Amino acid sequence: MSEKPEPVNDKNAWWRSAVVYQIYIRSFADGNGDGIGDISGLRARLPYLADLGVDAIWINPWYPSPLHDGGYDVVDYRDINPLYGTLGEADQLVKEAQDNGIKVLIDIVPNHTSNLHRWFQEALASPAGHPTRDRYHFRDGRGMDGSAPPSNWLSVFGGPAWEQTSDGQWYLHLFDVSQPDLNWENFEVRREFESILRFWLDRGVDGFRVDVAHGLFKAPAYPDIAEGGDLSVPRQQLDHPFWDRDEVHEIYRRWRTVLDSYGDRMMVAEAWVHPDRLTLYIRDDEFHQSFNWDFLAAEWDAKEIARVIAESYERACKVEASPTWVLSNHDVMRHSTRYGLPRGTDWHRWPMEGPHDVLDVAAGCRRARAAALITLSLPGSAYLYQGEELGLPEVWDLPESALDDPTWERSGQTIRGRDGCRVPLPWSSEGPSLGFSSAEPWLPQPAAFADLSASSQSVEEESTLSLYRRAIAIRQDWLIADEEIELIDLGPDTLAYRRGTGIACVVNMGSDIQPLPDGEILLTSAPLNGGELPPDTAVWLSLTPSTTNSTD
Ligand code: NOJ
Repeated sequence: MSEKPEPVNDKNAWWRSAVVYQIYIRSFADGNGDGIGDISGLRARLPYLADLGVDAIWINPWYPSPLHDGGYDVVDYRDINPLYGTLGEADQLVKEAQDNGIKVLIDIVPNHTSNLHRWFQEALASPAGHPTRDRYHFRDGRGMDGSAPPSNWLSVFGGPAWEQTSDGQWYLHLFDVSQPDLNWENFEVRREFESILRFWLDRGVDGFRVDVAHGLFKAPAYPDIAEGGDLSVPRQQLDHPFWDRDEVHEIYRRWRTVLDSYGDRMMVAEAWVHPDRLTLYIRDDEFHQSFNWDFLAAEWDAKEIARVIAESYERACKVEASPTWVLSNHDVMRHSTRYGLPRGTDWHRWPMEGPHDVLDVAAGCRRARAAALITLSLPGSAYLYQGEELGLPEVWDLPESALDDPTWERSGQTIRGRDGCRVPLPWSSEGPSLGFSSAEPWLPQPAAFADLSASSQSVEEESTLSLYRRAIAIRQDWLIADEEIELIDLGPDTLAYRRGTGIACVVNMGSDIQPLPDGEILLTSAPLNGGELPPDTAVWLSLTPSTTNSTD
């Protein structure tokens, strides 16, 4: 093997090539024995994260909250939910993580607050037209008596997006009824969020994941949406009354100046927008990065994934941003299950709709391991979701009585929602909650989690955890020196690309065994078969020069 390359990229900012590990704190590790994950549990597991080799963690909202939407209903942006700990413990966590070489990103939720937030309580207690109501979207209803909502907008979680208050006015909530939308035309709202950013930057956090970054502004006249338009899928409509409005960019430019004044801090956007518009969010004076949903949504298909990689890379390059790669998070079905479903399955609705017996668990697991080698070998940042390094499946059969996601009730119990990817992690193979807590976990763990525990996988050479550890270590040494990538044509069923350092990733997405180009094998997601690549298997290899042709 040739000598380890020196970084050649002059844009060496840490976040450009970071492995960011998402902590859904409620389900990560419980330190105080109440069955709910918390900061002390997370602090105790920092050595695990350091061993895994991640560069940063992103912690889902940890603020005081009634948890009607898993903490995305924030009561106080400058404090910590007592279920999770205290501000003092948060400070200690940030310091200890950084001492372990791990940066800390936190979640900021600017589109809406909790209905228990002081501002919303003040607004409710004030008459119509009072300035406290202007921080939110309060409107009179339509019809002679104002009994019809101001527009036909629907909530993302189902049902109308307007709720009538006891004095007859209506307020807007694009998500749960307990999450009133803030009015970003209001300058007090803008000032407040800049001050919140500074509050956390002063405490040393390295950056922010910005929730619903595309949602802040609403068309002032609240126009109805044409009948038949899918209200919850912003990517289908370019001129939408509440998604991806141009005014959002002014806000993020201001935020960027705040972050820049602190030095090496970053922010990543959760922006579900039309791919052509995504680059606007990552211009050099706005977000540093934006999650790449096309990659997450792609089917297990070599051509499709190659196209998504090429397009995502090109788009990011256009604005000199670094691309991101994400396969799972707390909102979507875990990819080891997703990849086991037949092509074209609407996994948002499965298994409520469609037969249960179509799931191919083994194929899903094989593909998820191969996908790890894709995610971790692409130029840019890899965002991992807790438990994917253990190969955890979606728990799609949680008892209905356990379901906590507002989607379940608001959809009239037709969509189960997102609890199946939020089940507490198995740290050991025994005990009442598999090492997650000394008490019963807040969501039940399936029996199958026992065999997937972190402690058992830690000592198994061939485990998914060992695969992730090795991949992250190799990535660190060999794959982040530059951001170059070139697709290689090895046939319609094979995804293949070469990085600037001469390392290639080759993935067999077909059903027949495939030959491999010449090179030294660095890592495989499953054993090779006589030197050839079995289906659903990925390999990293250091290519022997001039053995392959690139596609143009
Ligand atoms: C996106 C978050 O990831 C999701 O969990 C939440 O329900 C919505 N935004 C509303 O905040």
